[in-house]
Amino acid sequence: MIRAIRGMKDILPPETSRWQWVEARARETFELYGYREIRLPLLERTELFARSIGADTDIVAKEMYTFADRRGDSLTLRPEATAQVVRACLENGLMRGAGVRKLYLMGPMFRYERPQKGRYRQFHQINCEALGSDAPELDAEVILLLLDLLGRVGLKNLRLLINSLGCPQCTVDFKAQLQLFLKAQEGWCDDCLRRLNTNPLRVLDCKSQHCKALLAAAPVMEDSLCEDCAAHYRRVLSLLDGAGQPYEKNPHLVRGLDYYTRTAFEVTAVGLGAQDSVAGGGRYNGLARDLGGADLPGLGFAIGEDRLMEVLPQEAGPDETSLSFLAALGDAARERAFFLLREIRAQGLSADMDFEGRSLKAQMSMADRLGAAFVVILGDQELAEGTALLRRMATGEQEAIPLNDLVPALTVHLGHKEGN
Ligand code: HAM
Repeated sequence: MIRAIRGMKDILPPETSRWQWVEARARETFELYGYREIRLPLLERTELFARSIGADTDIVAKEMYTFADRRGDSLTLRPEATAQVVRACLENGLMRGAGVRKLYLMGPMFRYERPQKGRYRQFHQINCEALGSDAPELDAEVILLLLDLLGRVGLKNLRLLINSLGCPQCTVDFKAQLQLFLKAQEGWCDDCLRRLNTNPLRVLDCKSQHCKALLAAAPVMEDSLCEDCAAHYRRVLSLLDGAGQPYEKNPHLVRGLDYYTRTAFEVTAVGLGAQDSVAGGGRYNGLARDLGGADLPGLGFAIGEDRLMEVLPQEAGPDETSLSFLAALGDAARERAFFLLREIRAQGLSADMDFEGRSLKAQMSMADRLGAAFVVILGDQELAEGTALLRRMATGEQEAIPLNDLVPALTVHLGHKEGN
């Protein structure tokens, strides 16, 4: 049998209902803050990611699904969405007269990482990007939106970690200090030894426990921030304070992508194990310019939806299903049920039946498997009497009901479930 690719999982019903429920909450939250959806291709030119995420990052150096198409152009399955959102804004002139452009995007991303709990090769992100302003209020709003969204789906025990990575001017100074520190220590892994010269900030993001321990005494970016960047960071923190949003400053948080400037943040969740970052984001004021566009400040975040689902509380999710199952016995009853289905569905209620002429027992177990809330039992005898048996599956209660009253009764019982 041909199996799915390692690190790529099937998401099956009824779990898909929980995914849909989370995505519906995300859409509602984005709309509240003035965001609109953007849908972009899964494939982009490799160069887009190499230039934005950084050639020296793990993502670009080791994790991209890159191949030549039939013409020989190098294409890559998107490992993240920020670079392509910026590309799309520039290419489609979305910033013309826009002020701040607020966009959200949901969908699969691809990274060739070693699969483990919470880490997949195809995973799903809920992305938020706000372009066109460097105001610290926007940073605070984006971070509060993220926590608002995670709260609305019922996530608890979250930690918000925050740092400022400054602007290219502050980084020059900091990189020099960091390099001095890194060269004075021994025992770095091979990646760090190379990056120490090419891109010292990346060393701060090393996953090796040994390097992490060595880094505890490394200099911190906050001490090298220029006055503008320091004031920006202070303002973001004071707005979070004012909003009553707790956070922890993490002076070594650099994130795994090179495009970040100023604010960088991550949200971790208890219960995720080693891969505990449920969302991450930050500002990327130089990204549009790096891609050949005009200066276009922006920031955003991405939630790892697969990880979010792993810590979604049991009680979160759609209400019980509103499906009615028509269990018909005999040809005449089956035909009547076929047309009843149409009437029920016309009311906006879900309904289904069996077309195979199965026994009542088999039909009841089908209804059970589909998670039906009600089963309507319709035999030739009931049909002759103009009635049906309406059975509430949760309690087993059953009542005979005139066939003419059936659709209105289901509407009363199930109609209010709409929107869940
Ligand atoms: P990132 O930190 O690479 O940032 O990814 C964001 C989130 O995606 C992570 O916190 C994690 O929950 C999830 N994630 C990443 N890799 C995997 C994986 N292999 N398996 C499962 N989940 C994963 C970005 O992608 C940036 N584009 C975020 C951003 C948006 N920054 C500004 N705007």
